[in-house]
Amino acid sequence: MRIEIIVGAIQTQPAEAIVVNLFEGVTEPAGATGAVDQALSGQLRVLLAGGDFRGKPNEVAVLYPAGAIPAQRVILVGLGKAEKFTLDGARQAAATAAKKARELGVTHLHTILHGAGSGGLDPEKAAEAVVEGTLLGLYRFNELKTKLDDVRPDIETLTLVELDAGRKAAMETGARVGQVIAESTALTRDLVNRPSNVATPSYIAEVARQMAGEVGMGCTVLEKDALTALGMGSFLSVNQGGDEPARMVILEHNLGRDDLPTVALVGKGITFDTGGISLKPGQGMDRMKGDMGGAAAVLGALRAAALLDLPLHLVGLLPLTENMPDAQAVKPGDVVRSLKGLTIEILNTDAEGRLVLADALTYAGNFTPAAVLDIATLTGGRVIALGAHAAAVMGDDALCARLQTAGQVVYERVWPLPLFDEYHEALKSDVADIKNIGGSREASAIMGGCFLSKFTPDDVPWVHIDIAGLEFTEKDQPYVPKGATGMGVRLFVELLRTWSAG
Ligand code: BES
Ligand code: MN
Ligand code: ZN
Repeated sequence: MRIEIIVGAIQTQPAEAIVVNLFEGVTEPAGATGAVDQALSGQLRVLLAGGDFRGKPNEVAVLYPAGAIPAQRVILVGLGKAEKFTLDGARQAAATAAKKARELGVTHLHTILHGAGSGGLDPEKAAEAVVEGTLLGLYRFNELKTKLDDVRPDIETLTLVELDAGRKAAMETGARVGQVIAESTALTRDLVNRPSNVATPSYIAEVARQMAGEVGMGCTVLEKDALTALGMGSFLSVNQGGDEPARMVILEHNLGRDDLPTVALVGKGITFDTGGISLKPGQGMDRMKGDMGGAAAVLGALRAAALLDLPLHLVGLLPLTENMPDAQAVKPGDVVRSLKGLTIEILNTDAEGRLVLADALTYAGNFTPAAVLDIATLTGGRVIALGAHAAAVMGDDALCARLQTAGQVVYERVWPLPLFDEYHEALKSDVADIKNIGGSREASAIMGGCFLSKFTPDDVPWVHIDIAGLEFTEKDQPYVPKGATGMGVRLFVELLRTWSAG
């Protein structure tokens, strides 16, 4: 989509549709919305007086000026209570209005900046939120449909209309950031939405290579032989049962910049998780095409970080493989040797994410990182513990706290779980150094975290983010439509932006 910013009055724009807003409880619209109301001889006040529009969050109404102003339509969106309004409200309002506009067949949309008037938001941040919300809300995945007859066309341009010329430069900066973040999230969503017969390990590696070329970052793809030579027996054990060869993608933003702190992001990249020999039940198994959601989030975050030119040396590690059952597949009871040298007794082949991450986390140590974060659709236990509204984080307390702050800002919230010493005891194996499951159903998200902690580089702060179940949403939300969410991209970008800021 093309984004532009113009200085002028919203009510004078010749537009297919203009978007204005109202806080809940307002009876006399002010600012840009007030100006539109006046130009429409008080039509908005009539709507409010009749109780037809109350300004609830994401409430939307469409008015037809019929020549009273040059715009063909006025889309009015509710912002909720002024005292509860945040940046997220601006994202949501923008998304709601844009989806309404698209439904009406609008292809060129004009909008004011939600929340930058009486909402008190900084114009740069508000522009970022409006552009981000618009693009994320309009996201859809139609590439596999051949019949698109009843699909509305895409919105081609979004014009932010601002009266104060002094705000234009800041808005341009914010709008660009919002676009980069939203488009990077869309890349992640696309990868998660794509089925496993399309998004294979080599396919994702190719997408990574192409993305890296476009934004100018380093990309190395380790093929199966290289992984074998390195000694990644844990990772490769998961690949044994499938025909698609494993790949490890290594992305590097600011490659070779020794002066910058290094942060390594590791993403679980199971392109389909059948469970292996410990086969999953059939019900809902299709969702396991999204078991590479962590890897896809790392890819999206790296793209955004490069385009935003964040002053960090960022390493993205994507261990990619299917988890399939066949005659060659790893079997319960098998013992494999990890890159770290620790032997692992695999008691459940469906606890495969930790096996691929173990070797990738160890490999991250080669980059002497200041911090390592992994993100993974790791356990059903995460879903049971926290449901739809928070990912689980485990590991370094300070880093968990920073992620909590970042998550609150972008509304991809996280909540900590403990990795107390006592929990680790359940992973002791009779025949190997460690086993890959705790053996009971207790604390399974924590067991995943405990296992991973044994393979992280020594003395480096590390956090594990379990996003199982959050890679998709069943519920259509204003800027997270049903389907792949892209969870993790915005969380990482916010963390890394504040990291760079000091
Ligand atoms: N990929 C799954 C976890 C998952 C569950 C992702 C629901 C998305 C939605 C993971 O590989 C898995 O199978 N975990 C097992 C681990 C168990 C065998 C210890 C689980 O959580 O049941
Ligand atoms: Mn599994
Ligand atoms: Zn899995």
